[in-house]
This record gives sequence, C-alpha cells and structure tokens, in this order.
Amino acid sequence: MADLPGTVRIVEVGPRDGLQNEQKPVHTDVKIEFIERLSAAGLTTIETTSFVRPDWIPQLADAEAVMRGLRRRRGVSYPVLVPNEKGMQRALAAEADEVAVFTAASETFNQKNTNAGIDESLNRFQSIATLAKEHGVRMRGYISCVLGCPYEGDVAVAKVTDVAGKLDALGCYEISLGDTIGAGTPGAARTMLETVAHRVPMERLAVHFHDTRGQALANIYACLQAGVSVVDASVSGLGGCPYAGGATGNVATEDLVYMLEGLGIETGVSLPDLLDAGAFISEALERQPASKLGRIPRK
Ligand code: HMG
Ligand code: MG
Repeated sequence: MADLPGTVRIVEVGPRDGLQNEQKPVHTDVKIEFIERLSAAGLTTIETTSFVRPDWIPQLADAEAVMRGLRRRRGVSYPVLVPNEKGMQRALAAEADEVAVFTAASETFNQKNTNAGIDESLNRFQSIATLAKEHGVRMRGYISCVLGCPYEGDVAVAKVTDVAGKLDALGCYEISLGDTIGAGTPGAARTMLETVAHRVPMERLAVHFHDTRGQALANIYACLQAGVSVVDASVSGLGGCPYAGGATGNVATEDLVYMLEGLGIETGVSLPDLLDAGAFISEALERQPASKLGRIPRK
C-alpha cells in the first residue's frame, strides 16, 4: 500500500515493560529462555531488563543475572533501561550494547516514576550520554504520557515536542513516544506524531502504545500512514507501569505482526515462533495470553 512502509522494525519490550509490573516472581532462567525464544522468532531488538532501583521494580532486580546468563545472538540488540548514572554504570558492567533513558511529557508522572521533574531527569541523562558515547553504546529515549497522563489528564503536544527535541539534542538515536495509559485514539495519535516529526525526523521516531482501551492497533495503523516504521510491542500483551495506575499491557506483538503481515509489511518475525514464545511466558505466569491470536486454539 502506497502510504505504508515496506518494512517495520519491532522493538520487543516484553521482558522489560512486560514483566516489570508482574507480582508473581519469574525465575531468571525463565526470563533468559523467554528472551532467547524471542530472538529465535526473528526479533532483532529485545528490551531485556532495567537497571533501576530494585526496590522500585523488584521483578527486574535480577538484571545483572539475566544479562550474564543470556546467549546473545549476532545481529540482535538487547537494550536495557537506565534512569541515572548509577544505572548506566551497572549496565556498562553488564556489557549492555544499548541503553534507553526515560522521561515524560507530564511533570507529575515523571515525579512519581523517577522521583524527579522532567528537567531534572534530562540533567541526569547528560552523564549517561557522555558514558554512552565513550563506550560506544547506543542510547534510545522514551517519552511517557504523550497522549494523556493518569495524574494530569490532557498533555499538550507542544510539551511532547519540546522533550523530544531535548532527547534528540542529548544524542538519542531514536525516540519512542509512549502512550503509557492507552488514552490515545487514531486521529490524536497521528496528529501528535506528525507534530513531533517537525522537530525530530520521522525516521528517528518510534511509537509505544499500551492497549488499555483497545485502541493500540488502530493507533499504530494511523501512525504507519503518517510514516513511522518502528513500533514497540510486547509478546502476549504483557506490560504496564506500576507508577501509572490502571495502565495495562502493550499492544501484543503477535497481533501486531498479524496486522503487518496482512498489510504486506515485512517484519522478519516468524508468527508461529512468536506464538510459542507467548505461550511459554503465559504458562510461566499461569495465565491465558492477552493477545487475541494467542487465544485461538492451535492445531
Ligand atoms: P531516587 O531514590 O531518587 O535515587 O530514585 P537516589 O539517586 O536518591 O538514590 C537513592 C538510593 O537508591 C541510593 O542508595 C542509590 O545508590 C540507589 P543508598 O545510598 O540509599 O543505599 N540507586 C540505585 N540503585 C540501583 N540502581 C540504580 C539506582 N539509582 C539509585 N539505578 C530512581 C530515582 C530513578 C533510581 C527511581 O525512581 C527508579 O528506579 N525509578 C524507576 C521506575 C521505573 O522503572 N518505572 C518503569 C519504567 S518506565 C515505563 O515503564 C514507561 C515506558 O514503558 C514508556 C511508556 O509506556 O510510557 C518506558
Ligand atoms: Mg511502556
């Protein structure tokens, strides 16, 4: 289709965003097998864990052990979240090949999530950026609450654009626009993306939709039409942020791949293998997959 990209790169966030909100402990070996199944399915960017305060996100307290145990596949990138210099030092010690910094377009959310205002968090990223450059580690940036905040309600697109410009200036190679609470609808999502793209080129933007209100696939379709070609997703629809009350999982990677295949868009991902990975982690969590595809009985 003329107005859609020929290829989409999927950033799989299941092991990080997907698991960070889970109460039930997931064994490190299960996480490692999960990540290895995702790479075997053809995903080339797999957000693996977070080097945040372990008492803030206990589920990911085994970040070092996950990184140590992982058999890394050539051609696959394993980004990790870092909130500050301490997190960056831990990530470097764990030989992370890519890091992601995260802030928000809402002051209140950023305070609740990182104990810092937006400008303060951007200041924290300066030393991360310097270290990233020194060590040849790529740095991605996230902006949360781009289409609404659980505490402040509406969020101005101008604020999203401003933060995107600052992350760009810090050296983020890509900026992921996060609809943290799944508040967006396709028209608003497209307008927001197109407005931000006046500041940061579309080729360096990604979209990250939580599916709280069932709008994620429609929002992604609208953003593909606007020219985005990097989409974050979480296998089995896992995910949520403990500091964004009521937020549910990300768009399910299986459902996304199904839609993209139907549109003739290449992803390099094997849907059957992805479904296996979704079934594997759902079984470990003792629940049904939250993806639509994962609930269809397989032969
Ligand atoms: P703080 O308490 O302000 O940190 O937390 P601090 O610098 O004042 O340090 C206090 C203590 O924590 C010190 O220890 C530090 O060493 C330690 P003490 O001296 O008292 O013994 N500490 C650390 N320990 C390990 N690793 C670290 C670290 N940093 C400090 N990195 C902080 C500030 C940002 C660290 C905290 O608020 C935090 O960890 N927040 C993380 C929250 C989080 O992970 N949220 C979910 C991810 S974001 C998300 O899901 C949204 C996204 O998906 C996009 C979307 O959907 O919108 C990306
Ligand atoms: Mg998220």
